[in-house]
Amino acid sequence: MEIRQTVDAIMVARGTLEADNMAMILPDRSLDKQPIRCLVSRKGNFDPSHKVFATPGGDIHLIVADPADDFDPGNYPRATATHRATVQDFIENSAMSLGIERLLCEGGGTLAKSLIESDLIDEYRLTLAGHTLIGGSKAPTLTGHLGDYLGKSTKLSLEGFERNAGGEIFLTYLRHQ
Ligand SMILES: NC(=O)c1ccc[n+]([C@@H]2O[C@H](COP(=O)([O-])OP(=O)(O)OC[C@H]3O[C@@H](n4cnc5c(N)ncnc54)[C@H](OP(=O)(O)O)[C@@H]3O)[C@@H](O)[C@H]2O)c1
Repeated sequence: MEIRQTVDAIMVARGTLEADNMAMILPDRSLDKQPIRCLVSRKGNFDPSHKVFATPGGDIHLIVADPADDFDPGNYPRATATHRATVQDFIENSAMSLGIERLLCEGGGTLAKSLIESDLIDEYRLTLAGHTLIGGSKAPTLTGHLGDYLGKSTKLSLEGFERNAGGEIFLTYLRHQ
């Protein structure tokens, strides 16, 4: 929520929306000051019953690169606009005109991987939850599914290191200049 306070828009991919059923709002802010909500799917198979579509908040933009034949924007009456574009095109060509200077991608890893590979991330916030070990053959990672590695390494600078009493460590990395 603290990070959300600093951005113009929040972005998530369909997998995370389904797993976490998020509203993507700032509960303490008035309706006219909510961040824009950007939902990413290649095929556009969003579930219209998800909380994000039922919760008043920032404008909702659907970013759908290659819509399925049965994709119908009319199924999402609360969505402000549909962009038939890749997420890279949206960020490079549409975001600024919508007033988005600072965009927070909240995942998941598959989306994060494509943003990293397109060199579109300036800042990474990583929480090491030192109290829990997470495993399993289907455990998602920072860059998507296990074994789905980045094509090449990315150099970052560690700029922030905070620890809370609960054993969590908050790391802030900036892209290496
Ligand atoms: N620990 C954390 O902080 C954190 C944060 C976020 C998520 N998560 C977890 O991560 C899991 C989900 O991650 P995930 O990697 O499996 O899925 P994801 O990235 O959330 O979603 C994958 C889906 O999003 C769409 N997508 C992703 N990248 C795209 C791109 N570049 N262009 C167009 N569409 C794109 C595709 O949708 P279509 O198939 O519809 O085309 C794809 O199937 C969940 O379990 C969630 O709880 C954890």
